[in-house]
Amino acid sequence: MTLTVTASFLIVFLSLITVYGDVIKLPSQASKFFRPAKDDSSVGTRWAVLVAGSSGYWNYRHQADVCHAYQLLKKGGLKEENIVVFMYDDIAKNKENPRPGVIINSPHGEDVYNGVPKDYTGEDVNVDNLFAVILGNRTALKGGSGKVVDSVPNDHIFIYYSDHGGPGVLGMPTSPHLYANDLNDVLKKKHASGTYKSLVFYLEACESGSIFEGLLQDGLNIYATTASNAEESSWGTYCPGEDPSPPSEYETCLGDLYSVAWMEDSDKHNLQTESLHQQYELVKRRTAGSSSSYGSHVMEYGDLGLSTEKLVLYMGTNPANENFTFVDENLLRMSSKVTNQRDADLVHFWDKYRKAPEGSARKVEAQKQLLEVMSHRLHVDNSVLLIGKFLFGISQGPAVLNKVRRSGKPLVDDWDCLKTMVRAFERHCGSLSQYGIKHMRAIANICNAGIQMEQMEKAAMQSCPTIPISPWSSLHHGFSA
Ligand SMILES: *[C@@H]1O[C@H](CO)[C@@H](O)[C@H](O)[C@H]1NC(C)=O
Ligand SMILES: *[C@@H]1O[C@H](CO)[C@@H](O)[C@H](O)[C@H]1NC(C)=O
Repeated sequence: MTLTVTASFLIVFLSLITVYGDVIKLPSQASKFFRPAKDDSSVGTRWAVLVAGSSGYWNYRHQADVCHAYQLLKKGGLKEENIVVFMYDDIAKNKENPRPGVIINSPHGEDVYNGVPKDYTGEDVNVDNLFAVILGNRTALKGGSGKVVDSVPNDHIFIYYSDHGGPGVLGMPTSPHLYANDLNDVLKKKHASGTYKSLVFYLEACESGSIFEGLLQDGLNIYATTASNAEESSWGTYCPGEDPSPPSEYETCLGDLYSVAWMEDSDKHNLQTESLHQQYELVKRRTAGSSSSYGSHVMEYGDLGLSTEKLVLYMGTNPANENFTFVDENLLRMSSKVTNQRDADLVHFWDKYRKAPEGSARKVEAQKQLLEVMSHRLHVDNSVLLIGKFLFGISQGPAVLNKVRRSGKPLVDDWDCLKTMVRAFERHCGSLSQYGIKHMRAIANICNAGIQMEQMEKAAMQSCPTIPISPWSSLHHGFSA
C-alpha cells in the first residue's frame, strides 16, 4: 500500500469515528432523601488503593490520572504508608515522553509523577496482587512493595481505578483481565472480614456501570460511582486536537473526563464541607458534556445513603483550601471536545504520523502502528460478527449478540461460562486485547443463550482459520480470561 492510499484510508476512517457518538439523554433522577451527615470525629485510618490498569504511551492518561490522585490524597493528609499505588510505570521514562521523568494530567498542570511510590509496577500490576492488597493478605502477594490495606473496623477505604474496560470487565496491563464478579466477591469478602467502616469506589472505564450493575449488593457499606453506565464508553480528555489541548509536543491524551472532573474539584475545595453526593452531581454534569456528541452518564451504586458523608473521610483535605468551600455550580471549564476512550490510541498514532517528517523512520513506524491497530479492530469486529452468524443465523446473529439485559440485571449469569467462551474465542481468533473487550456483551450473550462449549469452539474455528500475525492479536501475554 502506498503512503497516499494509506493516508486517505486513515482520513476516511478517522472521520467515521468523529461522527459516531452516543446521544446523551440524562435519565430522570428520582429524588432521594438522605439521612443527615454524621460528624466525622470517629475517623479511623484513611486507606487508598489507586490502580492504573493499562500500559503503553498511547494510554498515558490512566497513569497520569493515578499519579494525580496520589498527589491529591497526599496533600489531603493521607500517609504514604496508607496509599497503595498500582501503575505499570512505563510513561515517565518512555522515549515518546517529551518531558522525561515528568507526567502531567492537564495542559498547564504541574508534574504529578515526583514522589509517587512504586508499590506495584510492571508485571506486578495484576489481578491477584490487587485482590491481595484489598484483602490485606500479604501471603498472597507476588512481588511489589508488600504494602496492603491493613485496615481495622473503624477505617475508611477509597479505591480509584482508571483504565479501559468493556461490559463486565476491566483491563489490566497483564493477563488475565479483572472480571466484575471476582471484584464484587472480593468486596464482599472484605466486608465479611469486618475491617472497614465504609468504602468508596471511583471507577473510570468504558461500560464501567456494568461492573456494579446487578452485582454490588446493598449493605456492604460501599458507595461506588462510575464514569459511564453499563452500555457506553467513557471519555479521554486533554487530547491532541481538542480544546483545551495538551502542549503541542504531546501526542497523547493527558487525562480522562470523569477522572479529571473529580480530581480538579477535590484539588480546589475544602473537603470538610463537600459531600460525596455534591461531588457526584458536579462530576456527572461535567462528564455528561456540553453537547450531544460526547459524554457519558456517571452512575452511582451500592449504599447511596453514604453519599451524604463528607469527602474528607476518604480523601482528607488540603489545609490550603480551608476557605474554598463547595459552591453548587460548575466553575470548572467544560471541554468543548473530548475523545472516546476506545479511540484514544488511534489519536496517538495518528498525531504521531501526522507530525513526523515526510520520509522519516518515525513516519514509517507510526504508519505501521496505525495499520496494525486498525487491522486488529477489523479482525476482531468481523470475527465476533461471524461467530454470531454461525451460532444464531445470518439474520438473527447481530441482534442476539447486541441484546442488552434490563437494567439491574448483571451482564451474564454464569461468569465461568463467559471466561471459558473468551478463551475459546482467543484460542482461534487471537487476543481480544484492549479494543476487543468491547465485545464482552456479545460473548456474554452467547452464554445467556445457552450455547455449549463445542458449538462455540466450532464457530470460532470456522470464523478464524488462523490468528493474524499482529502484536495486538498475539497470545504471547496469555488469555484475557
Ligand atoms: C491469604 O492468601 C493465601 C494464599 O493465597 C491463602 O491461602 C489464605 O487463605 C489467605 N488468607 C486469608 C485470610 O484469606
Ligand atoms: C482563611 O480565612 C481566615 C479568615 O479570614 C484566615 O485567617 C486564614 O488564614 C485563611 N486560610 C487560608 C489557608 O488562607
